[in-house]
Amino acid sequence: MALDTHQHDKSGLDVAALRADTRGCTNVVHLNNAGSALPPSVVVDTMVEHLRLEELIGGYEAHARAGDRINAVRDSIGALLDTSGSNIALSNSATDSWDRAFVAIKFANDYGPGTRILASSSEYASNVLPVMQLSRHLGVQLEFIPDDATGVTDVAALESMLDDNVAAVLINHCPSQNGLINPVAAIGHALARAQSNAWYLVDACQSVGQLPVDAVAVGADFLSVTGRKFVRGPRGTGFMYCSPRALSELEPFPADLFGTTWTPDGYTMRSDAQRFEAWEKSYAAILGLGAAVDYSLTLGLDAIKQRINYLAKEMRCMLDEIPGIKVLDRGIEKSGIITLRHERVDSAVIVAGLKELGINVSLGTPEYSQVDYLAHGVTSMVRVSPHIYNTLEELERCAEVVRGLSS
Ligand SMILES: Cc1ncc(COP(=O)(O)O)c(C=O)c1O
Repeated sequence: MALDTHQHDKSGLDVAALRADTRGCTNVVHLNNAGSALPPSVVVDTMVEHLRLEELIGGYEAHARAGDRINAVRDSIGALLDTSGSNIALSNSATDSWDRAFVAIKFANDYGPGTRILASSSEYASNVLPVMQLSRHLGVQLEFIPDDATGVTDVAALESMLDDNVAAVLINHCPSQNGLINPVAAIGHALARAQSNAWYLVDACQSVGQLPVDAVAVGADFLSVTGRKFVRGPRGTGFMYCSPRALSELEPFPADLFGTTWTPDGYTMRSDAQRFEAWEKSYAAILGLGAAVDYSLTLGLDAIKQRINYLAKEMRCMLDEIPGIKVLDRGIEKSGIITLRHERVDSAVIVAGLKELGINVSLGTPEYSQVDYLAHGVTSMVRVSPHIYNTLEELERCAEVVRGLSS
């Protein structure tokens, strides 16, 4: 397949080099980076090297030998989020991060029928289901924030919903099921303006790695991320940013001896974000995650954003020209997630047809985000999510197959 070595995207990234760094590019047309991206080879090589060391000298001994490199992973993630490594906790997934934050908030507060929790309409199921449990069992009110005319969270509407009973505000930065980008920094400012005491949780699972995210500028108390998507790390990794307020006011529950020390008089907790970490981890995976983050930092998040934007824009243009296809993405500024459906052809048929020809995309269904799907009358969708190593030719091939399946 010929490469689009003409860099129309102006990112300055060397696409041939990116593809040479990514072994999977020779195997598949991978347009499912919002599911789990192809990692650069350095990620897998780093993991294998550490696993070999564990095999040869023992797990604890390999950990000790890698000590400084493991600590450096939090600093690299801190650099990715424009913050300090001391505000970063490692976890196993975005949901694991989210749950650690959510349980700590719940542990610090008495929730009851007067408690309100506000959420963006595009919220991911695992972020909302625990609130639904609190609704069912404690009477907590879960309220969805309306979207504005462009389709993103309406900041003014959110401001008008705030009062002293709002315990938490949950916002999805880039949803799984739509190419919109929610105005998370504007929401952070609105909460500060209103002097709200609500905890602000941002799901940055799909945004970190595909665009620059400044955790402090967002104003979130917690920002949860997974390793395997646009960050291009291994599966089973995740991390979260914890704000100074979160670190001074909240305890993880239940406490783990990694971040909490059992003393003769009781217990003491670490003052940094590692208080939210568990003792046992896959250090091979963490080192792999660190390699992925360092790879992105070397390329630069502005360049990565530019290339993904360019590819996503081209893809939307190609899809717009196919009769019967509707691109569903809302908002003015869009992410690298492209969502579509055909007016007659089942989305599952399109996904399966592409798969048969070696093109990976994914199928979206309402149980991942009921409110968003219901509000827009969508029952299923095809999601195409390119990354920097994808080429225009791959996108054209994808569009051609969609056209064939649509006729
Ligand atoms: C927007 C969003 N939030 C959260 C998650 C959950 O991530 P994880 O599976 O790492 O817990 C996903 C996964 O697809 C997602 O797309």
